[in-house]
Amino acid sequence: MGTIIAVNGKGGTGKSTVAGLIVDYIASKKLGSILAVDADPNSTLSDVLGIKIDATMVGVVDETSKEKDNLPAGMTKDRFIEMKVQESIGEGEDFDLLAMGRPEGPGCYCYINSVLRNVLNDVIHGYDFLVIDNAAGMEHISRRTERIIDKMVLVSDYTVIGVRSCIRIYALAKEMGIKVGKFFLIVNKLSGPLDPLKNEITSSTIPLAGTIDYDEELLRLSLANRPVSELKSDRIRSSVENIVKNILEG
Ligand SMILES: Nc1ncnc2c1ncn2[C@@H]1O[C@H](COP(=O)(O)OP(=O)(O)O)[C@@H](O)[C@H]1O
Ligand SMILES: [Mg+2]
Repeated sequence: MGTIIAVNGKGGTGKSTVAGLIVDYIASKKLGSILAVDADPNSTLSDVLGIKIDATMVGVVDETSKEKDNLPAGMTKDRFIEMKVQESIGEGEDFDLLAMGRPEGPGCYCYINSVLRNVLNDVIHGYDFLVIDNAAGMEHISRRTERIIDKMVLVSDYTVIGVRSCIRIYALAKEMGIKVGKFFLIVNKLSGPLDPLKNEITSSTIPLAGTIDYDEELLRLSLANRPVSELKSDRIRSSVENIVKNILEG
């Protein structure tokens, strides 16, 4: 059974970048098979990972809904859709990718999230790691399933507001009874000492998995739409190594 790592936090803090760096690290060290899951409708994980996706879950659900008259015998429509979504998983050399896509119109998120949850419950057996970018709809992933999110990684930028957002998500997850094995905090885009955030971090009681410096190269790569695998900075790479080790051992 694979380890589920979910990355969450306020928009723009670097969730997709961090998720991408984690996937890249696990892949480059050959720690196991990986399914990267882009659960953010404003998705960028495929860009961060440099994978072209030809099908999103939203697209598959739309397509399949039209075929509802040709369901295989004895199969419910939901099951059929889940099967088609599984078939749509993009297979890369070092990892696979499942992208949610952007649902249109109200009410769609619930359905897509429930499809996502069921598909993840099915495919988790086939991977050593699931890395989910932006489990904003995490209640849909974890609620009413026996699966837990093993590691919930909360990403903050170098601001008090960022840390407070993480604390809010942490409190919300506890309140909703979401099954999380362990929470971690990452401060990303660090451009000075951690001291001004120390009080906030300590009082949050969320263990700090590590920090990632603000890095021009990371930003330039994303502006040029290049994947994080091209990153040369040893400094960032060793920060990521430290973080992944803390997360997997913690
Ligand atoms: N450590 C970093 N140093 C510099 N820029 C970063 C860093 N982490 C992320 N970024 C940049 O910040 C922007 C937002 O990051 P992104 O991962 O898309 O955030 P989110 O997924 O949380 O919305 C991107 O342009 C990304 O390249
Ligand atoms: Mg993102």
